[in-house]
Amino acid sequence: MNIGILGAGSIGSILARKLSTAGHNVKIANSRGPHTIDPSIVAAGARAVDATDVINDIEVLIISVPLSSVSAVKALIADLPNEVAVIDTSNYYPLRDGHIQALDEGQVESVWVAEQLGRPVAKAWNAVLAGSLEAKGKAAGAPGRLAVAVAGDRDVDKRAAMALVEATGFDGVDAGSLAESWRQQPGAPAYCTELTRQHLPAALQAARKDLISPRRDLAITTITEKIENGAVLTTDDLVEINRSIYN
Ligand SMILES: NC(=O)c1ccc[n+]([C@@H]2O[C@H](COP(=O)([O-])OP(=O)(O)OC[C@H]3O[C@@H](n4cnc5c(N)ncnc54)[C@H](OP(=O)(O)O)[C@@H]3O)[C@@H](O)[C@H]2O)c1
Repeated sequence: MNIGILGAGSIGSILARKLSTAGHNVKIANSRGPHTIDPSIVAAGARAVDATDVINDIEVLIISVPLSSVSAVKALIADLPNEVAVIDTSNYYPLRDGHIQALDEGQVESVWVAEQLGRPVAKAWNAVLAGSLEAKGKAAGAPGRLAVAVAGDRDVDKRAAMALVEATGFDGVDAGSLAESWRQQPGAPAYCTELTRQHLPAALQAARKDLISPRRDLAITTITEKIENGAVLTTDDLVEINRSIYN
């Protein structure tokens, strides 16, 4: 597939490397220009381009930026054809993103993103830690292969997201409509807890809307305190903290 990625940070760069290695034709951009893109991304076969170039001649656009950048992305994708699939990896952390009233009042995060962008999106890879995404992918059918939740309303977005999740080494699990994607937001049992496709559906169902924001904030406080006390947390440590708080 011809894929554009907006955002070349932790998640965008891993996706670019994995999808290029899997044989896809990938272009990637950040906000500062192609010369600032990590050379390992280009070495894997992706093309580093200007953000304005990312949307040309693509079938799928992956948006992997902080929520504070969504309005800038809206301007960049104004001419993106309707049939291009769009996948959003974002999560809302008020401490990092600043407070967004609609999200504080409970609007589903990717529904807000779709509204801001003025077009549908699928939500995928938001609930997998960068460390898990980087290191824990496996071949299809391998025992213990982890799963990634995919939510969305349009077939074109969801089909692309399911196929690309597979290409990154994870089982895609259909998590329903975008309105249901609060079940994979920070604070939910399915969020960054490394589940297989046998266990992910039950975790999505077990989510409680009233608990996800307080549990998200508790996890952040817990992690921040551990780091301030000198802990060096691995991906496995973060998964354990999430499991202990979100379940
Ligand atoms: N890190 C994780 O473990 C993880 C896991 C799942 C989901 N997520 C979510 O995925 C999203 C990205 O996370 P991340 O950790 O990869 O973030 P990150 O490391 O901070 O990277 C963000 C990227 O977005 C780029 N960007 C910002 N504004 C842009 C714009 N207007 N146009 C083009 N590029 C722009 C930045 O480019 P510049 O540096 O040039 O500004 C940077 O490359 C976030 O919503 C995050 O919550 C993160």
